Amino acid sequence: LECESKGREITMEDLFNECFKRKSIRLFKDGFSSEDQEKVTEALKKAVPLDPSAAYEFTLEKPHGRGGASVCLYMKDKEPQSLVGAGYLLEQADLILEQLGYGVCFLGTAKPDVKEKDGLIFVMMLDVGLCDPNSFRQGKADFTRKYINDIWEGEFNEQVKDCALLSPSALNGQAWYLKSSADQKKITVYKKRAPFNPIPDEVMRFFHFLDAGILLCHLELGLVHEHLKAERHFEIKPEEDRLTEIAEYEIK
Ligand SMILES: Cc1cc2nc3c(=O)[nH]c(=O)nc-3n(C[C@H](O)[C@H](O)[C@H](O)COP(=O)(O)O)c2cc1C
Repeated sequence: LECESKGREITMEDLFNECFKRKSIRLFKDGFSSEDQEKVTEALKKAVPLDPSAAYEFTLEKPHGRGGASVCLYMKDKEPQSLVGAGYLLEQADLILEQLGYGVCFLGTAKPDVKEKDGLIFVMMLDVGLCDPNSFRQGKADFTRKYINDIWEGEFNEQVKDCALLSPSALNGQAWYLKSSADQKKITVYKKRAPFNPIPDEVMRFFHFLDAGILLCHLELGLVHEHLKAERHFEIKPEEDRLTEIAEYEIK
């Protein structure tokens, strides 16, 4: 998760800080150049997959939103495992590109020109382009999010909790739940299904697994920032009482 920015490496620390500044950008400026295309393509190579053995590919295509280009992500299928992996990669792309000063927004329903690529299928794209540097947030107070106790049960490091809390999600649904054990040696991450939902469960299932991957990205940036060494156990379990376990972190 390190990349060049004007001769300087972007570090995990930068990406942690970006979690407190990022914002979905929907107002772009003209002038996205071929130099920008190159810079974005290079930066995307720095994202690290959740499962090192899972195939994926980022491509840069013509704009499908209001930005200067779209970043398309292809994975082997749209099974939960791949969707969580996709969210994890896309959120890194979001943070890396915003750190470079680009405006970024997830485009949840946009259709790509190319549906399949090298045996992989399209999952989701990001709108990317130039924007006013003042578009980004100043800090935690500028975010609209749930209360931490609504998404996290148990005591844990506040910085890690905040970083997780500020994760973006489709329709800002924040359909997740985390539990930390009393000894703070274990964090369990769940996808949480709302009891009533105006949007069909099948549609939300797609977004919510992606959202879960986004959350894992933020959670891990928080853990690294706080020097908390953790081992991730990524295994999606069957749903129980509207909760689907996604991953467990063992704090060393
Ligand atoms: C999977 C996913 C799909 C999204 N799809 C769209 C979209 O199609 N159009 C849009 O304007 N925003 C989209 N968003 C952005 C969310 O609305 C936004 O992240 C959320 O409201 C929180 O705001 P923030 O990102 O500025 O913190 C999407 C976000 C995610 C994570």
